[in-house]
Amino acid sequence: MSEAAPGKSPFRSAVVPAAGLGTRFLPTTKAVPKELLPVVDTPGIELVAAEAADAGAEQLLIVSSPGKDAVAAYFADSSELEKELAARGKQDLVAKVRRAHELIDVRTVTQDEPRGLGHAVGCARAAIGPDEQAFAVLLPDDLVLPTGVLNRMAEVRDRHGGSVLCAFDVPREEISAYGVFEVEDTDDEDVKRVHGMVEKPAPDEAPSTFAAAGRYLLDRAVFDALDRIEPGAGGELQLTDAIALMIREGHPVHVVVHRGGRHDLGNPAGYIRAVVDFALDDPEIGPDLRAWLAARLNG
Ligand code: G1P
Repeated sequence: MSEAAPGKSPFRSAVVPAAGLGTRFLPTTKAVPKELLPVVDTPGIELVAAEAADAGAEQLLIVSSPGKDAVAAYFADSSELEKELAARGKQDLVAKVRRAHELIDVRTVTQDEPRGLGHAVGCARAAIGPDEQAFAVLLPDDLVLPTGVLNRMAEVRDRHGGSVLCAFDVPREEISAYGVFEVEDTDDEDVKRVHGMVEKPAPDEAPSTFAAAGRYLLDRAVFDALDRIEPGAGGELQLTDAIALMIREGHPVHVVVHRGGRHDLGNPAGYIRAVVDFALDDPEIGPDLRAWLAARLNG
């Protein structure tokens, strides 16, 4: 199978695992999936869908669980609401409402049981065409800023082949929240060859401080590896363990070290930071919020 031509997106499908219970956001997540919580006014999953579309993805495969139909519904046609808004002369709102639906084709695949991130990605297998040699995975809890790292990762796959992940350099005391890479430098300071990967190691056992940050460009060989792993950290089937298995078997894996910002929407503290960060940049609400925050912090 041929590699994608340089400059052309090497993937058509982007998998977004969104089957979790959202326990850290209970009680809200009794009724509202955490992926739909708004970052100012736009659900986190729309930001991630826009990032995937910008990088050339044509289809978003949302891995969902029973009871989370609202996530797919969010991307469905909204022409009735658009008509109503247009009749009221609210063209700006029509554009906002239409955006999610027009971004990208959305398909949902169901993960019946919460068996881990590796299992969730495996659920997307049948929805990825046999001619698609690589696909992206975007974890909707992670906002990687500024966007565009997937394009950089695609360039690295063009050059080195195999699979490419996004890494952040994190403080060692925080490392056990992540999948962690054992790396070797290349001639590009921001690209490292990966020799091993371990999920949620103790700080003194972590092979580096380079952590996986929720963006993956995976060769479809990962599906075969996912079939062969055993439950790992937390008793779950870990994507990290499938990637580690591929590395042991000679599959080239590289990381792009992202030096920008990152938000973790997966817990209330990280989510609130993201909302404040985006709101401060919003021309309409930013200035007042800034003044209020300054007064609140001094008060
Ligand atoms: C998942 C991955 C982990 C990665 C992290 C990034 O962990 O398993 O390798 O570093 O996302 O956010 P989770 O946050 O689901 O525990």
